[in-house]
Amino acid sequence: MNTFERDKAYVAPTYARFPVEIVSGKGALLVDAEGKEYIDLGSGIAVNTLGVADEGWKAAVVEQLDSLQHASNLYYTAPCARLAEALCVRTGMKKVFFSNSGAEANECAIKVARKYAALHKGEEAFTILTLKNSFHGRTITTLSATGQDVFHQSFLPLTPGFVHAAAGDLEEVKRIADSIPLAAIMMEMVQGEGGVVALDPAFVAGVAALAKEKDILLITDEVQCGNGRTGKLYGYMHYGITPDVVTTAKGLGGGLPIGVTMLGEKVEDIFSPGDNGSTFGGNPAVCAGALHILSRLDEEMLAGVTLRGNLIRERLSGKSGIKSVSGLGLMVGIETEKDAGEVIAACRERGVLVIKAKNKVRLLPPLNIPVELLEKALAVICEAAAL
Ligand SMILES: Cc1ncc(COP(=O)(O)O)c(C=O)c1O
Repeated sequence: MNTFERDKAYVAPTYARFPVEIVSGKGALLVDAEGKEYIDLGSGIAVNTLGVADEGWKAAVVEQLDSLQHASNLYYTAPCARLAEALCVRTGMKKVFFSNSGAEANECAIKVARKYAALHKGEEAFTILTLKNSFHGRTITTLSATGQDVFHQSFLPLTPGFVHAAAGDLEEVKRIADSIPLAAIMMEMVQGEGGVVALDPAFVAGVAALAKEKDILLITDEVQCGNGRTGKLYGYMHYGITPDVVTTAKGLGGGLPIGVTMLGEKVEDIFSPGDNGSTFGGNPAVCAGALHILSRLDEEMLAGVTLRGNLIRERLSGKSGIKSVSGLGLMVGIETEKDAGEVIAACRERGVLVIKAKNKVRLLPPLNIPVELLEKALAVICEAAAL
């Protein structure tokens, strides 16, 4: 059997995979099993922040692997403590809980919200408001948080305690907050799976003010839009707000699994021993790599993201077959006249890997993709959209 056949025979078919077997890569280039080279504008869905096999990230991980690959959370390890410190210094948050994925990071945020509300507002204040069109993960509870019915089908009943309001509709959020005692409001600053849509600044400011007034925790899900992807370290930093809880995952690990729940002043002391845990959370090798990724996300890298994001918008906007370009920085949604799936397939045939978000073509390139490669890929996207 070849890999396609073996995968079909033995892997649960939860993914509609593209007919490509990736075997290796370097930077923003990927190579398939037939030796064909692709420009990668997906980064493993916003994971390979510095592309494939970045030398600095690899060295940090390998150096750590040489001394210790894992210790249980019954003991202290330096990379875990250092990464927590670096995240707090860069964000102003106070404490960090480590897990392995975005869904787990959000699960932890939900636990924080429920415990905080039970202590400060009473046990009936357990409801969390999220936005329609949002995506917060695939565990039953983060699915319940996700404001898209399409993900709920077949998995009912969902976890109680979630309500959804339309993104941008501050009046609806206020109406709900007046009628139900809310523990938290959780939102992505740029809805990724929902079609790469950045939230309206006035809406975000209104929600933040309401949350403050009513002592509702503000949670930003930065799993996809965090870690430099939008041109700032975290998406909320575009909006001048201070969340109480920030969750992230994906790109912080640079290719190894990580989940992070950052706790602000209000909730820094919410957890006691036994309240949460994770066997692999804070793993030394993962944290050593993440610490390196974070150190590379400096002002120069972030300015480079903005520059590349602007270049993408300039090259694609108004081109034949392209209706609109959405998102922030290197998180891009392209609405095409043709079906997005057809454009994605045409790009792939021409050696450019792009992905989908709802009915849009989505770009999430490595943050340091060389500009010449990006320009080459953009020319291919224009050609594919115009066909
Ligand atoms: C905004 C957001 N939150 C949560 C998740 C879930 O992350 P994971 O797949 O690591 O559990 C995703 C994944 O795409 C996401 O985009």
